Amino acid sequence: SAADLVFTGIQPTGIPHLGNYVGAIKQMVNLQHRYTGSILLSVVDLHALSTPQDPKLLRSSILDLTACLLACGINPKDTILFQQSMVPQHTELAWILFCNCSLPRLQRMAQWKEKQTLVKDPGVGLLTYPILQAADIMLYKSTLVPVGEDQTQHIELTRDLSKAFNIRYGPVFPECSMIAGEVPKIRSLRNPSKKMSKSEQSEKGRIELTDSPDKIADKIKKAVTDFTSELTYDPINRPGVSNLLDIQLALYDDIDLDDILEDSFLRAEDTGQYKVRLSQLVADKLAPIREETIRFQADTGYLMDVLRDGADRASNIAAETLDEVKRNVGL
Ligand code: ADP
Ligand code: NA
Repeated sequence: SAADLVFTGIQPTGIPHLGNYVGAIKQMVNLQHRYTGSILLSVVDLHALSTPQDPKLLRSSILDLTACLLACGINPKDTILFQQSMVPQHTELAWILFCNCSLPRLQRMAQWKEKQTLVKDPGVGLLTYPILQAADIMLYKSTLVPVGEDQTQHIELTRDLSKAFNIRYGPVFPECSMIAGEVPKIRSLRNPSKKMSKSEQSEKGRIELTDSPDKIADKIKKAVTDFTSELTYDPINRPGVSNLLDIQLALYDDIDLDDILEDSFLRAEDTGQYKVRLSQLVADKLAPIREETIRFQADTGYLMDVLRDGADRASNIAAETLDEVKRNVGL
């Protein structure tokens, strides 16, 4: 509806990969015309701090991600593109929500159960960042959140915290929902039982948006598949091969699964040969994004201007919501 507000965030923890692109960025690009001025995309640097970050690398990742988002087609005139830490209301609202969320509710989150085993000596932020994420969404009274299915639990938490706040302190927050597009989950090339992620240690499992054609071909060639040479789609029993098909489907809107399988059948292609063809298709799609990213990366002054301007616009909305929240809470 006309009153909808769209919000999503991406962590500046490295160059975005194909999963981020088809799961979030591509959708945001498609939505920005319809929701011009009511769509926010945040480079969520505070979230990145929930796991240890090298300060120099973090700073360059913020600019790299911004360059990549612009290269993918995010237009800073239509989309409010900003750096999370430039808008202090995110942490202020998060604190108020911390005080209104039970500990067991957080300890039940799948991300916590998984991530605490990956990090040595996990910090408290790793447990509590879903509340910061809820604050990110609620601060703008967002109603639509285009994210991958890996975020379902976090959106549920946001809905619960909004409802609880409204009951306890009076109606402030609208109900938000995930945008139920066909957002595919892309899996790691090396470990197809896991999602493709920036937080997977080895970059061999992910195709970054700035990878060269050679690098793409090498990663896809070494993608874990199985001993069946025939190309079939069966995500449960053949997650590796099915993931490759999902990648082509997600990148090429004008083609469906039957088209791909039939085409491959006519070519008498085995999975190895399909990998070679897919590499070319992925490289073709990523070539313009890669070139544009490199062009934007060379202009850090422009990137900083975009982030600062976005933060100014985001702050206007954030300040209003936080005033209302403080009044209702009794501050
Ligand atoms: P990552 O796990 O790679 O660090 P983020 O947490 O920064 O990614 O998520 C950014 C956005 O990308 C979110 O909307 C998330 O749902 C989406 N996303 C992340 N990984 C995938 C994936 N493998 N497939 C589809 N969408 C994904
Ligand atoms: Na993540």
